[in-house]
Amino acid sequence: MCQANVIFTQAANGIATLTLNRPEIRNAFDDQMIATLITHLEQIEQSSTIKVLLLKANGKHFSAGADLKWMAQMAENQPAQNFADAQQLAKLMYLLNRLSKPTVAIIQGAAFGGAVGLAACCDMVFATEQASFCLSEVKLGLIPAAISPYVIRAIGERQARRYFISAEMFSASTALDLGLVHQIAPNQDALESISSDWLKNLLNNGPLAMQAVKKLVLEVSLQNIDDRLIADTAQRIADIRATPEAKEGLAAFLQKRTAAW
Ligand code: COA
Repeated sequence: MCQANVIFTQAANGIATLTLNRPEIRNAFDDQMIATLITHLEQIEQSSTIKVLLLKANGKHFSAGADLKWMAQMAENQPAQNFADAQQLAKLMYLLNRLSKPTVAIIQGAAFGGAVGLAACCDMVFATEQASFCLSEVKLGLIPAAISPYVIRAIGERQARRYFISAEMFSASTALDLGLVHQIAPNQDALESISSDWLKNLLNNGPLAMQAVKKLVLEVSLQNIDDRLIADTAQRIADIRATPEAKEGLAAFLQKRTAAW
């Protein structure tokens, strides 16, 4: 039987997991794998029972980025088909970045090219000490186009210029300094344990509040701080505190009990 290139699981507590599963080619992703990921993300977005998403990968490496055999084949297509295909990768990044639910990625081994994009699109990223990162595209005569909006937001324009141009490999500790990674684990077991603790912590937060705060960051960043933005932020807090979820959260705090969500 053919092994799924992406494994989807959902636990009763609301944690969904997407596992990249093409370890034989280092979880490099082709059009099929991208389509599968898109389908899962669309379903996760719609699900009323999924509260958070964990993105991980089977094998020694998180992912070698785009499947270079597929890239080479696509280049032979007619321009319109070539463009349509490239749009799918851009769509995957967009959907992951905009997913309303919190996203956590855990990274072991290599995260190259598009895999850095996947990490940049997630809200929290943990990596093993031994993990390595590389925006290797220019070594191949390519550019990290589809992932650039997210990587630039994650590490900033100044650092993106260096790492996009140099295509140098960088360590987990550098990724931490750059802001791409939030926490480093000494080994794979610790990585799993840190992510599992964080996921459980996230489940204690108001699920709708986490969605609203994620939207807040995405929409407020890069905007001018002017009267319009100030009014917008005031409206958001006014709206959220009138929701049943916030009323429950505040009541639970004042009554010294756990919130019922
Ligand atoms: N696309 C397609 N196949 C890939 C791939 C990719 N991005 N990355 C690795 N593979 C394949 C290799 O061709 C090899 O196939 P083979 O067994 O048929 O020869 C297999 O995966 C194992 O690769 P290998 O390089 O031997 O694994 P490694 O564990 O020594 O190194 C990496 C892992 C990720 C460091 C290395 O494979 C690599 O640098 N890959 C290219 C990553 C890249 O530049 N991605 C950017 C894409 S834009």
